Amino acid sequence: MDVIRIQGGQPLSGTVRVSGAKNAALPILAATLLTDEACTIENVPDLSDVRFMAEILRYMGASVEQLDAHTWRIEAKSIDSTAPYELVRKMRASICLLGPLVGRLREAHISLPGGCVIGPRPIDLHLKGVEQLGAKVEVSKGYVHVDASGLKGNYLYLGGRQGSTVTGTANMIMAAVLAPGITRIESAACEPEIVDLCHMLERMGARIKGIGSHYLKIEGVDRLHGCKHSVPPDRIEAGTLMLAAVITDSEVTVEGVVPGHIRALLAKMEEARMPCTIEPDQRRITVHPAPDRKPVEVITLPHPGFPTDLQAQMLAVMTLTPGLSILTERIYPNRFMHVPELLRMGAQIAMEGPSAVVNGTNRLSGAPVMASDLRASAALVLAGLAAEGETWIQRIYHLDRGYEKLEEKLQSLGAQIERLPDSALPSDLLE
Ligand code: EPU
Repeated sequence: MDVIRIQGGQPLSGTVRVSGAKNAALPILAATLLTDEACTIENVPDLSDVRFMAEILRYMGASVEQLDAHTWRIEAKSIDSTAPYELVRKMRASICLLGPLVGRLREAHISLPGGCVIGPRPIDLHLKGVEQLGAKVEVSKGYVHVDASGLKGNYLYLGGRQGSTVTGTANMIMAAVLAPGITRIESAACEPEIVDLCHMLERMGARIKGIGSHYLKIEGVDRLHGCKHSVPPDRIEAGTLMLAAVITDSEVTVEGVVPGHIRALLAKMEEARMPCTIEPDQRRITVHPAPDRKPVEVITLPHPGFPTDLQAQMLAVMTLTPGLSILTERIYPNRFMHVPELLRMGAQIAMEGPSAVVNGTNRLSGAPVMASDLRASAALVLAGLAAEGETWIQRIYHLDRGYEKLEEKLQSLGAQIERLPDSALPSDLLE
């Protein structure tokens, strides 16, 4: 297992390019199962989650070829309807195979993914949705079994306690595009990744109205055909790199970002006096040094609200923003595993239910810390970049699930960060 070592306190400078979005790529790859024709997917990020998805698609019988580091060709001439535990447990996003299997094969047998460190991740809305589309659902021996021989369009409501569900919406869309009749989805998620999935499906021949809104009307078609599609840039990686610039008081240009995908972050940065410029091409954002930034209150919400996937990184910035900041997590109220690690670096954070109250200071000190999930790992990297001294981050396989070569990108900006084998850990840090 690798570890990351950061020598903090080095300002960043230069331009860095964002990779394709993990959370767009995974449903897109799953959607290739909706047709027996070949699909070519470009700008796919080179991540372990993508490799897991490729492994599952292959297991199901699809021919999966990686044409180059970021281009995949998938041809699912004939496929099987089972996604087994040994593959699904590696990546909970495997649940986004439910919609394609129901749509294409009218049946699915998918292992339930099990626990998640960021809190409970139920799939009740997915199951209720396919039932409303005429399927029979049974959960037994750790699997969800779906018989969708009676699949037909219907009215679906996808709102849950925390708002709409992103992957649940993706699943219902992918099932409905091949369901006879009309499906109306109310309280659909409208994240940019859902919008992009709809555009890909349209290119495959699907009929979808209301794209980008909370109300979708889908007219089922008999079959879909192959397509070429490019994964949009990762708005969460873009936000992470922008916050890396803020926390180190640096000037950095982030390239390949769609400003319209991160309006909530941009608005919060403006309020917090973290200046940035959207370049005229609307594809680059330059973050300027923010030495007099001020504390703010942030609440995570479904899109277009502030994304939960940037909560940990924003919290790291708050620890180095003098004054009292408050961060409330409305999507995953327990997603604060990074807090105890930030405390080890000298941060002052008190938890009040789903809110972190941060008493920002002027300095963090480098320390050995443990990554617990993908975004928590990113927050620790950001804190390490700004801390005095050396930070060692262990269990960085979490980071590799969702950030393509983050340490190389940060190195190119001048950060002193390196990936090392865990044998390089000082002896007192060995697990
Ligand atoms: N929820 C339910 N019932 C359901 C589904 C969800 O109650 O059937 C709840 C969840 O417990 C949560 C909320 O609804 O409180 C939102 O969950 P959602 O289904 O939208 O999350 P997801 O689709 O499983 C995706 C991303 C996550 C991201 C969330 C929220 C992918 C592969 N994953 O998860 O990404 O945090 O949306 O934006 O798209 C990450 O990249 O680090 C990550 C965790």
